[in-house]
Amino acid sequence: ELNGIVAVDGPSGTGKSTAARGLAHALGAAYLDTGAMYRAVTLAVLRAGAPLDDAAELTRVARDAHLVMRTDPDSPGVSLDGADVRGEIREQEVTKAVSAVSAVPEVRELLVRRQRALIDTATRPSGGIVVEGRDVGTVVVPEAGLKVYLTASADARAHRRTAQDAAEGRPADRDLVHADVRRRDTLDSNRSVAPLRMAEDAVSLDTTELSLEQVLRRLHELAAARG
Ligand code: C5P
Repeated sequence: ELNGIVAVDGPSGTGKSTAARGLAHALGAAYLDTGAMYRAVTLAVLRAGAPLDDAAELTRVARDAHLVMRTDPDSPGVSLDGADVRGEIREQEVTKAVSAVSAVPEVRELLVRRQRALIDTATRPSGGIVVEGRDVGTVVVPEAGLKVYLTASADARAHRRTAQDAAEGRPADRDLVHADVRRRDTLDSNRSVAPLRMAEDAVSLDTTELSLEQVLRRLHELAAARG
């Protein structure tokens, strides 16, 4: 039964964000992009000039970073130390460094705690939230009423990321995006803490051949069936 929490996990380029946000909008639920939190901490790390292999330093930066997440699906947002960083967290430097930062167990612990607090606020005493990420169904909220795991071929994912970058004014080379998608898959799937993995009770959905509308319709059906 849908207890108000929908977990949407999967690698990058599966259409996860758009689908999760669209579902939240359709359900009148809140929306939380956990990847944006790892990205914002990574931006803080880069600004601080902290070495990416210094776990203690990365943890310190993560602890001191003042993150505020806006969970309205119609205008989701992330601010770092009082400034809107929605655009900056999508820049290439952040994308390159984020897997190293998100592999640090203490950083994850801090962010997972904040994620749970945000989810609590959105669902208590009542209300729903769609949460997207890599470990939402496995670690953040294993009790989620519906867990969806999105997949797509590496080609399709690279293609979508390239199109998305271009649409948002960050012209990107398709081969570079392809390499980045593969690199992050490997890093995110092989880290020791909370690796990218499908929860046993998740519904998996291959979006390779599906349009966004089709993905959204399917998610909506799944949510309705659980609700
Ligand atoms: O979803 P997005 O591509 O913005 O996520 C950026 C990075 O943040 C991922 O490559 C991964 O390293 C990390 N991440 C994570 N756990 C999550 C969400 C994102 O480790 N729940």
